[in-house]
Amino acid sequence: MLEIKNLKVSVDNKVILNDFNLKIEDGQICAIMGPNGVGKSTLSRVILGDKNYQILNGSIRYNNQRIDQMSTDERARLGIFLAMQYPNTIEGVSNQDFLKTAMESNLNRHIGLYEFILECEKNLEELKMDPSLIHRNLNDGFSGGEKKKNEVLQMKLLNPSLIILDEIDSGLDVDSMKIVFTNIKKYLEEHPKTSLLIISHYPMLFDYLKPDTVNILSQGKIIKTSNYSLAKDIFENGYNKYIKALNDEDKNE
Ligand SMILES: Nc1ncnc2c1ncn2[C@@H]1O[C@H](COP(=O)(O)OP(=O)(O)OP(=O)(O)O)[C@@H](O)[C@H]1O
Ligand SMILES: [Mg+2]
Repeated sequence: MLEIKNLKVSVDNKVILNDFNLKIEDGQICAIMGPNGVGKSTLSRVILGDKNYQILNGSIRYNNQRIDQMSTDERARLGIFLAMQYPNTIEGVSNQDFLKTAMESNLNRHIGLYEFILECEKNLEELKMDPSLIHRNLNDGFSGGEKKKNEVLQMKLLNPSLIILDEIDSGLDVDSMKIVFTNIKKYLEEHPKTSLLIISHYPMLFDYLKPDTVNILSQGKIIKTSNYSLAKDIFENGYNKYIKALNDEDKNE
């Protein structure tokens, strides 16, 4: 279970999240939507412990353990995984070395090359990825869609219990989208206690994954929580009426 209480976060001396609260139970799927620049990616990075973001107040707990002072590495070893909106390129580190090292760190044991290759091949096949991507430098020259699939490959290999997907659907063609969504869905079916936090601007992903809650992030906090119908309404009509309702409420206070 992930529990975020009264979180206040700034970056570059600008407060992005303020009085932010969120709880995701084991096995729950929580979707977060919101206009550009409101802090959705900031939230995902803060949960993983990106040092560019300062926590000014509040707490983040995972399975009742406070994690907001832990290193990113420690959080990853607890089973928290983030597929980034813009995956990093690392020159001089092969995708294979990166994946194997990350798996070994998470499992806290050595993984033989044969075991790694078998596991990798199965997942590359399921994601319909070109196997040569494994030998290239991490994300170096990968197409937008290849980067996103590679994030899902990492997810599958690292066996997380809390998955954060930040716009995993952006940059994927329609066929790749289906492949990626099917892989995520299968992972969740095989790991029913795994929780998922999905950030997306589009309801297509939610058609597949059926979130328990859909939340709007604006002005630093969740301003509306509902079900799948909220995602469809936002897609068709935009955010204005929800943001206006909040502003009117503030004026009346
Ligand atoms: N490292 C940084 N330095 C300076 N400003 C930053 C940094 N990271 C984020 N910001 C700012 O914080 C705000 C929130 O950014 P964030 O990326 O979290 O938005 P978002 O909700 O994910 O938007 P989008 O829907 O466009 O992905 C933006 O104004 C952004 O410019
Ligand atoms: Mg973002």
